[in-house]
Formats: sequence, structure tokens, C-alpha cells
Amino acid sequence: MDVIADLKRVPLFETISEADLRPLAEAAYGRRYEKGEVICEKDGPGDALYLIRSGRVRVYTTDEQGHEVTLHIYGPGSFFGELALLDGLPRSASVAAQERSDILVLPRQAFLTCLEAHPRILLEIITAITRRLRITTERAEQMAFLNIYGRIALQLLDLAEKHGRPAGEGTEIAMDLTPEDLASLSGVDLGGLERALEFYQDARLVELRWPRIVVLDEAGLRRRLEWHRRRRLI
Ligand code: CMP
Repeated sequence: MDVIADLKRVPLFETISEADLRPLAEAAYGRRYEKGEVICEKDGPGDALYLIRSGRVRVYTTDEQGHEVTLHIYGPGSFFGELALLDGLPRSASVAAQERSDILVLPRQAFLTCLEAHPRILLEIITAITRRLRITTERAEQMAFLNIYGRIALQLLDLAEKHGRPAGEGTEIAMDLTPEDLASLSGVDLGGLERALEFYQDARLVELRWPRIVVLDEAGLRRRLEWHRRRRLI
């Protein structure tokens, strides 16, 4: 596999010459992770940066009882593992393959050497971190201000926007999801998820075809979300 071509495909490295990328490409190695396989664990060492060649990965944290909350899902071309790599602290969250994924592993030292020679990479990383912080803020708002119906509507709209593709009468979320995945992404328990999905299905706003979900009426789902937002503010 051509590692340099893979590196140049992502915004992080696209402006760096092939010659300058060679040492990093030589230190990098590819790994395939099957669905559910853990790529890095919370509190583990920040010894590498990961680049997604294909597939999707899920960032999550777990409490002592084993409840999980999904913080984010990354797709092809995204990187993760930058936090521990840069601040030298343990990994802030765990990451597992949401589907079979090909990952390019960039060992810490080789990446830092490349970073020192090309500080522009830092700008890309800061931009990505700010985007991630904004999304995390939105999520904190969602947990504080929305009930379960609102959280699930928001999550479905978000997934449809980021991973949707036209499917006959609506937009299919082109990602295999289990009810547990969606509950964890929305920050609700399984009972709450079932109630809300049943409601949205009866209202013909969504259709469940596990492991796929089709959003039948985006505008209608958005109206429900706004209704829940307003109700919370009264
Ligand atoms: P790191 O802490 O090294 O390892 C876990 C990675 O998950 C982290 O770097 C980020 O790349 C990613 N991550 C952690 N928290 C979030 C979050 N709230 N939103 C998006 N990505 C995150």
C-alpha cells in the first residue's frame, strides 16, 4: 500500500512534499481492525496518531458499571489520538472499530519530528480540535436541555446529515447501527430509545430497518426537535 499517497490524501499532510513525508511513511504501518475491536483504550499511552484509511471508528467512555457513552464517530480521512500524543497524558477516551476499518498508525516520535519541521500541521490539528470542542459543547447542551425525544431527533438528524444517502422515500443513515449504538450516541438508555423510536416510527418520521435507519421526513423530525427545544425553554 502506498503510505505516502494515503498521507497526502488528508488535509493534515496534503501540502507536505513526498520527500519530507518519507521518514514518517517509513515509520508508519497499517492495521486492520474488525468491527468492535478496540484500537486504543482510555488511560492507555499516547504512543501514536491514527489515520482512518477506510471504515468508521467510535470514540467512547465507560463508567464502572460498564455504561457507555459515545462521544463521536470518525470516518475515512479523519485522524484521532492527537490529544494524548500532544499533551503527553494518558488517552482521554477509548476508540473501537464501528465497522471493519483500515487504520494507518503513525508512531509518536516520527510524527513529532514531522511536526517540528512543518508547524503548519499544528494549525490543522488545532482547527480539528476546535471543531471537536464545539461539537462536545453542543452535546453538553443537548444532555442538559433536551429530553430523550429531543436527543434522539437531534442525533438522527445529525447522522442523516453526516452519513446520509438518498434511499427511495427518505435518507438512509449509511452506517450499521444497533439500538445500543444509537442509545449510546444519543445519551439515553435503551428503554427511552425504544419509546422515542416507536413514536417517530408511528408518526412516519423514521423507518427502522436495523442495522439501518431511514429518516423519512427530515423537516418533520426537525419540527419535533424544535418543539422539544421550545418546551424546555418555557
Ligand atoms: P486521545 O486522548 O489521544 O485518545 C482518544 C481520542 O479520542 C482523543 O485523543 C481524540 O482523538 C478522540 N476524542 C476524545 N474525546 C473526544 C471528543 N469529545 N470528541 C471527539 N473526539 C474525541
